Amino acid sequence: MKKILVIDFGSQYTQLIARRLRELCVYSEVCPWDELPKLDEVDGFILSGGPESSNIEGNPTIHEDIFNTKKPILGICYGMQVLAHQEGGEIINTGKREFGNAELKLLLEDQSKRFMDSPKVGQDIFDCIDQDLHVWMSHGDKVKSLPTGYEVIASTDNSPIAAFQNVKKNYYGLQFHPEVTHTNQGELIIDNFVEICGLKQNWDASDILKQIDELVRNEVKEDNVLLALSGGVDSTVLAAVLYKILGDKLTCVMVDHGLLRKNEAKNVVQNLKEKIGLTVNLVNAEDTFLTKLSGVTEPETKRKIIGNTFIEVFENESKKLESINWLAQGTIYPDVIESAGNSKTKAKVIKSHHNVGGLPERMDLELLEPFRMLFKDEVRKIGKAIGLPHEIVERHPFPGPGLGIRIIGEVNHERLERLREADHIFLSELKKQDLYYSASQAYAFYLPIKSVGVVGDNRVYADVIGLRSVNTTDFMTAKATALPHEFVEHVSTRIVNEIDGISRVVYDITSKPPATIEWE
Ligand code: XMP
Repeated sequence: MKKILVIDFGSQYTQLIARRLRELCVYSEVCPWDELPKLDEVDGFILSGGPESSNIEGNPTIHEDIFNTKKPILGICYGMQVLAHQEGGEIINTGKREFGNAELKLLLEDQSKRFMDSPKVGQDIFDCIDQDLHVWMSHGDKVKSLPTGYEVIASTDNSPIAAFQNVKKNYYGLQFHPEVTHTNQGELIIDNFVEICGLKQNWDASDILKQIDELVRNEVKEDNVLLALSGGVDSTVLAAVLYKILGDKLTCVMVDHGLLRKNEAKNVVQNLKEKIGLTVNLVNAEDTFLTKLSGVTEPETKRKIIGNTFIEVFENESKKLESINWLAQGTIYPDVIESAGNSKTKAKVIKSHHNVGGLPERMDLELLEPFRMLFKDEVRKIGKAIGLPHEIVERHPFPGPGLGIRIIGEVNHERLERLREADHIFLSELKKQDLYYSASQAYAFYLPIKSVGVVGDNRVYADVIGLRSVNTTDFMTAKATALPHEFVEHVSTRIVNEIDGISRVVYDITSKPPATIEWE
């Protein structure tokens, strides 16, 4: 398969480059700089950024085999510096990092129009880019002098050589990151490079599926696979994909910890049966979880109890199964970035996310994670492509510990029942009024704070329900959805009227940061 090979020098953004290529319907593979695959079908190379300095001996370099292919190369940040260095240019350490937005000036005369009167391949990386180009910088070193045969094509106030090219060789370098959304028109620059490589843009979800099919068949062979189904988008789509490939060799276990939304477990199991023919083993463990959570109020303790109990229940269930060798998980790329396993980008733990981490080692299983390089919207595209219903594929994310972290304070059966009802009213009204799919995540939470109300002629003194709805693209930052006032009022009236034990409803308008999306 014709492709662009992304050479990973350790940047946090490497997978974003691959993602941008997939968005342009171009097939790409990512490989570490020191583990090159066969290069026969590679039509171009993108060199990622990286934390090192290209000046220091022993640091990552571009393998000679890459130059020998004579195919186009685009170096980004460290990739640009190492390209310049190996081609004979000079790199300096500026002593201070340049981080953030910069304004890029295109230097060649008529640069954005040059392409119009010349053949596409081998020409302009800034084709169709207008002069108003704001780019994202994150670097300490920079190119001081160019190798022979190269010309500077763009600069910023801080980096006189912010982009260079050698059109004879089709080598390009960008000091900034075209793959991040902070660089406006970045996608167009990558698109231009694809054109320069002469690649067809015809790669789509069905190709990703073929690739997963191949990977699973090669890895799993005749083995049996176990999947912990949470009911969320990622694990549900994965269950459907794997079932199509593995058939009866796949066993899906869904642990209902009693902290799910109204009818959630039933709907997921029913949908997978009806649409795909897959039978899920549903385990009702509500009592076990609620017993362990009894009297616990501290959020992190709750999360840990739910995570550990999940592992125990799941392990007990799987002991009943025969000869399982693999554990499949719907891990997606943002989980990989956030996981502690990636030490270079290790972020401070704000919340200990519950997933089934820890299970594979404990149960001595191999881990199968076919989605680990994909983003959520790509998983959704796959779900659609294999015929899963819209309401499953486009549903809002739901945290592993479920309603357990949406009830502030102690979790008990009574509070869960009230919250489930309130959440159901909120979400079904959002759907009814066509607001659900324009929000990224909406939910109700439970505040065990007594407030005075009046229902009919009676004074009530009862708990509070909160509503939260946010809009976000990456769930790292988010803004509260500006829901119409009449809508929120209507939902509030329904909740207070229909649910005993609730006297008041509030709407949370805090952004993330400083708040988080969940309350605990
Ligand atoms: P926060 O609250 O950290 O949430 O702003 C960001 C996104 O992550 C989800 N979330 C979780 N997902 N296990 C999960 O699978 C968890 O433990 C967990 N905690 C938060 C949250 O719902 C939001 O989409």
